Amino acid sequence: MRFDVVSIFPEYLAPLDLSLIGKARTQGLLELAVHDLRSHTVDRHRTVDDTPYGGGAGMVMKAEPWAQSLAQIAAASPVSDGAKPTLIVPSPAGEVFNQQLAYELAAEEHLVFACGRYEGIDERVLEWAAEEYNVRPVSLGDYVLNGGEVAVLAMVEAIGRLIPGVVGNPESLVEESHADGLLEYPVYTKPSSWRGRDVPEVLLSGNHGKIAKFRKELQLRRTAVRRPDLIAALDVAAFSKADKNVLWELGYAIVNGRAVQRDAVVEPD
Ligand code: ADE
Repeated sequence: MRFDVVSIFPEYLAPLDLSLIGKARTQGLLELAVHDLRSHTVDRHRTVDDTPYGGGAGMVMKAEPWAQSLAQIAAASPVSDGAKPTLIVPSPAGEVFNQQLAYELAAEEHLVFACGRYEGIDERVLEWAAEEYNVRPVSLGDYVLNGGEVAVLAMVEAIGRLIPGVVGNPESLVEESHADGLLEYPVYTKPSSWRGRDVPEVLLSGNHGKIAKFRKELQLRRTAVRRPDLIAALDVAAFSKADKNVLWELGYAIVNGRAVQRDAVVEPD
């Protein structure tokens, strides 16, 4: 899999040389190149921005350096004939990045990231790029960063670790938060008693069935408290009786295969 990142701050992407992603690059599991947008400017000041048409605060990134850079990257794309690379444009105005999108993007051959700064990139670049790319504006969440670089660090890590071979033990991908629509259960290590706090007894029992049941219950409890939006999105039709009982205890009824907060169900008069 190949990643290309375009930025006016290439040094911002230096952490991608480290840790699991750095190691995956050295092992040839993924290729990643960072490009300086300013290398496609022609003026003395290497200008990449200008004032917005229609007025308003801040500056907008000029179209031409982006077109030059993206055309060069598309021309060298490894994607098979007829397919297009995907262009991710980090933006608070994009679709929200999540684990499902990470899985979807990890199946692609070539991802290109266009890190905008200031008020964003001239919109015509995104329209123009659609000829050569599948263009996807993507947001990290409902808050505003100063530029796309931090979002790219997060997305490359989340996507890169799903590429086969990058994470040593693929089992750990199955059990982590969001893999099954729930938050991960809490974890503990030695010593079993620490500063007066004991590890839950069942985890020391060696009874794998009981441990799995206990962990699932904690996943449900934690998700209900921290992320009730995830509980509402669950398909609970195939849940075990025990899991349904936990949901009931947490204040949910099962209506048409969905967990609905019982106090939200309106009884007919
Ligand atoms: N650039 C600025 N804010 C952003 C966000 N929330 N997500 C992705 N890219 C951004």
